[in-house]
Amino acid sequence: MNFRSLSMLATFAAIVSTSALAAGNAANGAGVFDRCAICHSNTKTGGNKIGPNLFGVVGRKAGTYPGFSYSSAMTSSGIIWTDAKLDAYIASPATLVPGNKMPFAGITNNNQRADLIAYLDTLK
Ligand code: HEC
Repeated sequence: MNFRSLSMLATFAAIVSTSALAAGNAANGAGVFDRCAICHSNTKTGGNKIGPNLFGVVGRKAGTYPGFSYSSAMTSSGIIWTDAKLDAYIASPATLVPGNKMPFAGITNNNQRADLIAYLDTLK
């Protein structure tokens, strides 16, 4: 590998790690959550709606909120909802969990997802 391809690789790695670790703004993320709120409650006592309750979702095992009828794709995914997994799921639900039943195409904007996840981190 020559110097040019090495430095290109370093640049690429820097871009990837910046987007993965970008710290979001939770206050902005509360606004992004409007797109989820039709289906998801964000309060401890809010129960389930069309989708499972998202209070305390960060750190939770996928498909385990009591009383919600999940797809088998979700319950058998084995995912723990870390920030990174949430980022991948919200970017493209059908890619991370093929066959899951969340009727949502995803949010392609990296900053909006980072803000939203910073907000989800506050729901505890
Ligand atoms: C139109 C309704 C709808 C919208 C809008 C929606 N969801 Fe969902 N969501 C669902 C359903 C239904 C499921 C259950 C999927 C399954 O069981 O396969 C789900 C599951 C999830 C899960 C997995 C939770 C768990 O307990 O494992 C997360 C995380 C999630 N949604 C986040 C979001 C976020 C963040 C948004 C907004 C960007 C959003 N959803 C928008 C309906 C929706």
